[in-house]
Amino acid sequence: MALFTWNDSYSVKVAMCDQQHKKLFEIINELANAMRMGQGQEVVAKSVGDLLTYTQTHFRQEEALMKKANYPQLAPHQEMHRKFVAEVEALHNQAKQGKAANSIQVLNLLRDWLVNHIMKVDKQYSEPLNAAGIC
Ligand SMILES: [Fe+2]
Ligand SMILES: [Fe+2]
Repeated sequence: MALFTWNDSYSVKVAMCDQQHKKLFEIINELANAMRMGQGQEVVAKSVGDLLTYTQTHFRQEEALMKKANYPQLAPHQEMHRKFVAEVEALHNQAKQGKAANSIQVLNLLRDWLVNHIMKVDKQYSEPLNAAGIC
């Protein structure tokens, strides 16, 4: 069962970013399933690792688009990305060491990021990026 379903209300009006956000939802759903099914720490660690890798790729590409558009809010946006990566890195290290994470805490963190970051932070670049011909 998908816990988080992407819908148009999450659209940031930049196709590449919407695509990547959808993929992030999928990875988080896989992680939620792994934790809910009581999968071993190995499966959970792998899933967190996938999330980390994909998040870093997405952030890098999203930042490159903002840079291309001379987006003035790039620096604070980058800082938020950096903080989130550090949090996922900490979760990954914990999972790799076989420490069971509090799954509710983990899913809350990820959901908060998805909802708050995409809805409040990413969406701010829609207009300026579209105006720069990035859509
Ligand atoms: Fe972002
Ligand atoms: Fe994003």
